[in-house]
Amino acid sequence: MIKIAVCGALGRMGTTIGRLVTEAPDMELVGGADLKPGNFFGAEVVDASGIEGLIAEKRPDVIIDFTVADAAVENIRTAARHGISLVVGTTGFTPEQRAEIDATIAGRVPAVISSNFSVGVNIFWELVREAARHLGDYDIEVTEAHHRYKKDAPSGTAKTILRILGEELGEKQQVYGREGMAERGDEIGVHVIRGGDIVGDHAVLFAGNFECIEVSHRAYDRAVFANGALKAARWVTGKTPGVYSMSDVLDL
Ligand SMILES: NC(=O)c1ccc[n+]([C@@H]2O[C@H](COP(=O)([O-])OP(=O)(O)OC[C@H]3O[C@@H](n4cnc5c(N)ncnc54)[C@H](O)[C@@H]3O)[C@@H](O)[C@H]2O)c1
Repeated sequence: MIKIAVCGALGRMGTTIGRLVTEAPDMELVGGADLKPGNFFGAEVVDASGIEGLIAEKRPDVIIDFTVADAAVENIRTAARHGISLVVGTTGFTPEQRAEIDATIAGRVPAVISSNFSVGVNIFWELVREAARHLGDYDIEVTEAHHRYKKDAPSGTAKTILRILGEELGEKQQVYGREGMAERGDEIGVHVIRGGDIVGDHAVLFAGNFECIEVSHRAYDRAVFANGALKAARWVTGKTPGVYSMSDVLDL
């Protein structure tokens, strides 16, 4: 049995992951942490200051973190200090935080970090890369939509799209929305929509003369991210310390 603890246990993703872990025949939900104590699916949820105690008592094999960036940096430090494997889905890290995370993990624990754990989005990223390779001279617009409670913008998935476009096309200016006199140049347009309960939509438009190609992905249920996180938790157990991505897990 793989023993799982979830940071952000009472959140939208934490709850979905907790449910799927209890349904998985090869996994045991040993506890969680959130801002306030409580319980989920029969396991205890400690407050953020109790994570050390949870680790000492329950000895999880993997900590899955879906919280907020500042909290995740702290949780990753704690897990690395105790040699516990990590699956990190939290987004919104600054470049400095991301560098600190990589340094914390190096040589200590294996960690899968991804801005999107859905299998479909990982394939979508490959399609975006392929399209960018061939359509670098087309106008490119990135659009993403999420529920009204999402804290960071643009989404981590959109930032990964922008990184892929940068790798294929070189760094281009990114223009976030347009207003007034806004003549198009050689930029990449980025557009963020927030509303209702949208789980997560992403699209990349490549617009040329007389034709457009749009590559898009739409998530209908958080279970696609949670299932990917469980897949990553199974994969990461026993791996050599270091930072891995979902494309390692999926062998893309
Ligand atoms: N990688 C992916 O596939 C993926 C998919 C969906 C969401 N996300 C990201 O996961 C994160 C969580 O998303 P969500 O929709 O579940 O948000 P949410 O706000 O519903 O849940 C976050 C939870 O973290 C808790 N939290 C905050 N500080 C904490 C701390 N110090 N210790 C423990 N818990 C703490 C909050 O109280 C909350 O319950 C966000 O960064 C989001 O962008 C990633």
